[in-house]
Amino acid sequence: MYTELMTCLTTRRSIRRYTPDPVPPDLIEQMLTAAVWAPSAHNRQPLRFAVIETAVTKQTLAAAMGQQLQADLQADDVPPHVIAADVNRSWQRITQAPLLILVCLSMADMDSYPDPARQRNEWLMAVQSTALAAQNLLLAAHALGLGACWMCAPLFCPDVVRQTLILPDDWQPQALLTIGYPAESKTKTRQPLSTRVRYY
Ligand SMILES: Cc1cc2nc3c(=O)[nH]c(=O)nc-3n(C[C@H](O)[C@H](O)[C@H](O)COP(=O)(O)O)c2cc1C
Repeated sequence: MYTELMTCLTTRRSIRRYTPDPVPPDLIEQMLTAAVWAPSAHNRQPLRFAVIETAVTKQTLAAAMGQQLQADLQADDVPPHVIAADVNRSWQRITQAPLLILVCLSMADMDSYPDPARQRNEWLMAVQSTALAAQNLLLAAHALGLGACWMCAPLFCPDVVRQTLILPDDWQPQALLTIGYPAESKTKTRQPLSTRVRYY
């Protein structure tokens, strides 16, 4: 089991280009099942997923997010040609993916505290739980022969995403996962373990 697991962990790559083939519903369900089996704080499972398959929803979301990206970059005084390239890249990434899964968190079932410090930690535990679920989903995608990539863009425009998709009020967008059959292959390295670990 360890060898199989390590093969899956080390051969998974962030894949950003896909064939146009749709992702079958049973594979979507398998990925989501893998996601909800991630550990979560108090086992409250604060994860929520918006599955986006239709072209019209992808385009509406990409346009709304692109508008916000453009406004943010204009406020930063980024040159117009750089803004246009960034907005176009974002549009292509979102509209060309056969499947999008927006990963959100909800504090609905988490504990609440009267003081901001403990409340922030509780929220952070929900963020951590959601990230673990997304990692399970990415690994399941890879194991099923799919490619996927995490896009952090929703963190920068959560209200735009929430309003465009008419998400429940408690859903906080965390990441947009683009998913499909790979049309590229990638290699990546990691820093030596010794640069990341200290034994005490
Ligand atoms: C929290 C997080 C945010 C990321 N955001 C983006 C992103 O916005 N766009 C993107 O193309 N990749 C994004 N990635 C993917 C990373 O670039 C990728 O995981 C990293 O380069 C390592 O490559 P690998 O996944 O192929 O091992 C993100 C990954 C994580 C974990």
